[in-house]
Amino acid sequence: MAVVNQKGGVGKTTTAINLGAALAELGHPILLIDLDPQANSTSGLGLNPARARNSIYQLLAGEAGVEEVMVDTGVPQLRLVPSHIDLAGAEIELATLEERETRLRTALEQIPAGVECVIIDCPPSLGLLTLNALTAATSMLIPTQCEYFALEGLSHLLYTHQLVRSRLNPKLEVAGILMTQFDTRTTLSWDVLHEVRRSHPAHVLNTLIPRNVRISEAPSHGKPVIQYDPTSSGAAAYRALAKELLER
Ligand SMILES: Nc1ncnc2c1ncn2[C@@H]1O[C@H](COP(=O)(O)OP(=O)(O)O)[C@@H](O)[C@H]1O
Ligand SMILES: [Mg+2]
Repeated sequence: MAVVNQKGGVGKTTTAINLGAALAELGHPILLIDLDPQANSTSGLGLNPARARNSIYQLLAGEAGVEEVMVDTGVPQLRLVPSHIDLAGAEIELATLEERETRLRTALEQIPAGVECVIIDCPPSLGLLTLNALTAATSMLIPTQCEYFALEGLSHLLYTHQLVRSRLNPKLEVAGILMTQFDTRTTLSWDVLHEVRRSHPAHVLNTLIPRNVRISEAPSHGKPVIQYDPTSSGAAAYRALAKELLER
């Protein structure tokens, strides 16, 4: 599952980490792949991206297999392929390699034994790294902030979905549009929710992720919110999201 939106700051990394942790807690072994050169999923799980011996870079370059690059995290059943600052140059290098859109898919052909689901945290662009994620994935989860420009971005992303389906990956489905940083007290949040539901009725998930300060504090402690503050509204929301996606 690729967690994707070309906009930054919409909650991709937060969702990748916390959905991954919530699914792992339910007993589903997860591999999280940090495909963003900013390495926020890596540092948010308490790992230092500069210290990682192997990273997603080696995987995309074909220099190492997935078993060699994945590491344990502080969350049982949640493993991580860390990112690295070198990945910033990879987008340019990738462009010169053969099969530049399918390198991640090839690397994930052999999913490590015991891993049930792979979650890919994408960078905030629709460049080659994201295309690699959409080519490797069977579904895309689209976190969307409850703000005015959300709808324009969504139309563009769903158009990209159609393009990828017709050219690279006919299996790619939309797992759902996830409304994030939802503030029940503002009319804007409700207006955007209604508008997105009206435009994309089949895709909007029932679970709403509230704006919750514990969610934003958790990464500085290197933990998902279900560990940092298990009783917070943010932890409850990500647990509900995990259940909803399992039922879908
Ligand atoms: N539900 C939420 N409540 C409060 N803060 C949030 C929430 N979701 C994300 N944030 C904060 O918003 C910022 C952007 O989120 P992030 O997941 O990094 O977005 P992206 O990966 O799409 O760029 C981060 O500082 C994060 O901690
Ligand atoms: Mg991110």
